[in-house]
Amino acid sequence: SVTRLEDYQESPFLIDRVDLDVRLHPTATRVTATLALRPNPKGRADAPLVLDGDEVHLQALALDGRTIPAAEFEASAQGLTIAQPPRRPFTLTIETEIDPTANTKLMGLYRSSGNYCTQCEADGFRRITYFLDRPDVLAVYTTRIEADRDEAPVLLGNGNPVEAGAVAGTNRHYAVWHDPHPKPAYLFALVGGRLGRIGKAFTTMSGRKVELGIYVEPGKEDRAGYALDALERSMRWDERVFGREYDLDEFNIVAVSDFNMGAMENKGLNIFNDKYVLASPETATDADYANIEAIIAHEYFHNWSGNRVTCRDWFQLCLKEGLTVFRDQEFSSDERSRPVHRIAEVKTLRTRQFSEDASPLAHPVRPTQYREINNFYTATVYEKGAEIVRMLKTIVGDHDFRRGMDLYFDRCDGTAATVEDFLRAFADVTGSDLSHFSRWYAQSGTPRVAVKGTYDKTAQTYRLDFTQATPATPGQTDKEPMAIPVALGLVARDGRPIAASSDRVNAQGVFVLDKAADSLTFSGVPSRPVPSVFRGFSAPVKTSLDLSNEELLVLLRHDSDAFNRWQAAQTVAMRLLVALSTGRALSDADSAGLSSALETFMDADAMRDPAFAALVLTLPSEADIAQEIASDVDPDAIHRARTELRRRVGIANLGQLWELHRTLAHAGPYSPDAASAGRRALRNVALDLIAGADRGVGENLAREQFETASNMTDRLASMSVLTTLPGDAREEALTRFGERYRDEPLVLDKWFALQAAIPEDGTLERVKGLMSHPAFAIGNPNRVRSLVGSFAMANQMQFNRVDGTGYAFLAETVLHVDELNPQLAARLLTAFSAWRMMEETRRGHAKRALQSIAGRSNLSRDVGDIVNRSLEEK
Ligand code: ARG
Ligand code: ZN
Repeated sequence: SVTRLEDYQESPFLIDRVDLDVRLHPTATRVTATLALRPNPKGRADAPLVLDGDEVHLQALALDGRTIPAAEFEASAQGLTIAQPPRRPFTLTIETEIDPTANTKLMGLYRSSGNYCTQCEADGFRRITYFLDRPDVLAVYTTRIEADRDEAPVLLGNGNPVEAGAVAGTNRHYAVWHDPHPKPAYLFALVGGRLGRIGKAFTTMSGRKVELGIYVEPGKEDRAGYALDALERSMRWDERVFGREYDLDEFNIVAVSDFNMGAMENKGLNIFNDKYVLASPETATDADYANIEAIIAHEYFHNWSGNRVTCRDWFQLCLKEGLTVFRDQEFSSDERSRPVHRIAEVKTLRTRQFSEDASPLAHPVRPTQYREINNFYTATVYEKGAEIVRMLKTIVGDHDFRRGMDLYFDRCDGTAATVEDFLRAFADVTGSDLSHFSRWYAQSGTPRVAVKGTYDKTAQTYRLDFTQATPATPGQTDKEPMAIPVALGLVARDGRPIAASSDRVNAQGVFVLDKAADSLTFSGVPSRPVPSVFRGFSAPVKTSLDLSNEELLVLLRHDSDAFNRWQAAQTVAMRLLVALSTGRALSDADSAGLSSALETFMDADAMRDPAFAALVLTLPSEADIAQEIASDVDPDAIHRARTELRRRVGIANLGQLWELHRTLAHAGPYSPDAASAGRRALRNVALDLIAGADRGVGENLAREQFETASNMTDRLASMSVLTTLPGDAREEALTRFGERYRDEPLVLDKWFALQAAIPEDGTLERVKGLMSHPAFAIGNPNRVRSLVGSFAMANQMQFNRVDGTGYAFLAETVLHVDELNPQLAARLLTAFSAWRMMEETRRGHAKRALQSIAGRSNLSRDVGDIVNRSLEEK
């Protein structure tokens, strides 16, 4: 069945208070829920009370303390209905039994490494007890958790701890937690287990004392220090930048090793995938540290954007997710390098969201219908959702953006809000009409903007002509023009900025393109300039520019906007890669311009900003090239093309690269800070280019680095380079790595991922073999994503094998995983989203693989939804 935005109705009943008593037991946990219900004055007056349920077993049911006769209600594993509930406030006491050990879906209450934990977003609370499991029903929760003292010495809940003690005459104990802030059920959480803790006291800006705690597997406490530091910095930052303060006596984070997503913002009790908490120089890469920082911040920031102000319904998911991603991006930019972080954000957006927008799974940032909401935790909702907030800030300016955010938080605090509420705050503080802008939430697909420049020497003017169009997407054939902020400037060919003016461009250098075609003219332009448009990637669009490679290289050398310097190099490289991939022969001269322009990023510029240089020197990925080609894609040809350009760039600069790799070698203790990480990144890009140009030299350098590395970043980078060089050295290094980290699942994930990404014919067999490795577990999302997910998403050439065996393998694995964990299976299945752009043979194989899934009878709703949408004809 389909849920539609237009069908939204207020709940007929509200729940003011929830008292939970949870008696933990591995296979028979008892939950007593006492709900203080009342009719919703805004709801339908004669409606029955329909509580959601999922795999719960009713033990007892009472209304105002009296058992309800069996004839007056209906209960099943999927729900509980009382046809004639009282039309006044009443309490319902529900006792259910659930089996956390059998819960392999990892939704609701489940066990991870023997510990009890919960995941309730989007609709997992109904797997704990019958409830009005919808985000617009907000209640104050008190939770008593009881467990065996040996099995679960630590008991954590939402809110503040109020009481704890022994259960007389037993080996059991309990803890009571009270959360004074009304919240929807999806923010409920509890944890019980054997856990180690590190903590720290924090005082908020208004003087509230808060105890911060991070709980991890005992013995791993020393790996939680970076996360704790990131939490403290996030809290300080949200006070300083958004004026938002924490509101409970404790803030706890628990790391668990079986988790479907990255982490979850449960009120006062965030639960994390342990890969986003645990880090040590020996086990985590620079990228891991950066992810930990970002996700710790993300979940903390949800305390305001998500918890204090939550969502009216799941169609509004971007209201909390897009906004919170924007907030965590801003945090990381302030803590690290803003231009470097912006480039990283855009790379992710293009790889994940632009591809989604171009696929059968394309949907608006605010979808209008869904069959399974868990399939809408997507790059579109998160990443494009964040871009919308960023554009809003660009359009209204920094000052009014902050005023609008303050108004939104103040006005909507304690409520379940909508995208309209959010936009209204900005419309109200600026007095402007944002209805055209709001189309960004409704229209799917990536807009294309074409830009053409015309110089008039006599008049000393320069005109830019813009046109925009958005391609058709599922369910949306006719597209309207969007309101697109274009941050721009002009650069003279000798590199000087040009201080020309146009009255269509505001003081921040932004022009808003809101028609299908528009143009603007700069006056006082002394010579033919090179336009620099979409500075800082001011809008999530695809751009086509009528600039020559020479003009782009002017931007690479001279633009004041770092993003566009990087973009210029990418555009030139992409042109060469597309030409090579589609069978156009390139002369050496064609790539020589790029190779020599890149040279400066190997010496002078490299030392000024190594992280930036590393990004400039990284060629577009195979997936990005495929997306650019967009039809009749041949992944083998793309792989050959990228290998060839990598070789040419390396050969042209071998001396400098070798020198770079040597001078950037760093002795001394590892530090995960952005500057040190940038030097490592550049050094490892150099290693990769060297290996692409000269196998012998590359292999020696990589082996030496592998032996001597003092941290996981350098060790993994050298291992990664070795995986591109078939032979004994590679196999030896892989074996050594596997043995060295045999007891480190998170490190073995990297080892699985590297092997799954080897661009060779033997990889599929290797992946199949690794599925019986003792460390692999089909029920653990991190393992499955590392091995199978990497094969399907990070190995374009082997997943898209022309014989179709890559697709068949994925289909088979998806079906297997679906029996245990539908959410995980549905995620894996999205790897097929590019199938329609493949050349004919592959397209046929992919279609048959998808049809083989669609033809199964007992698919989960999650997998059924993805497979059906993937196969739908436009
Ligand atoms: N709200 C979480 C976040 O911070 C994601 C939870 C998604 N869970 C799910 N089952 N779909 O982004
Ligand atoms: Zn989130």
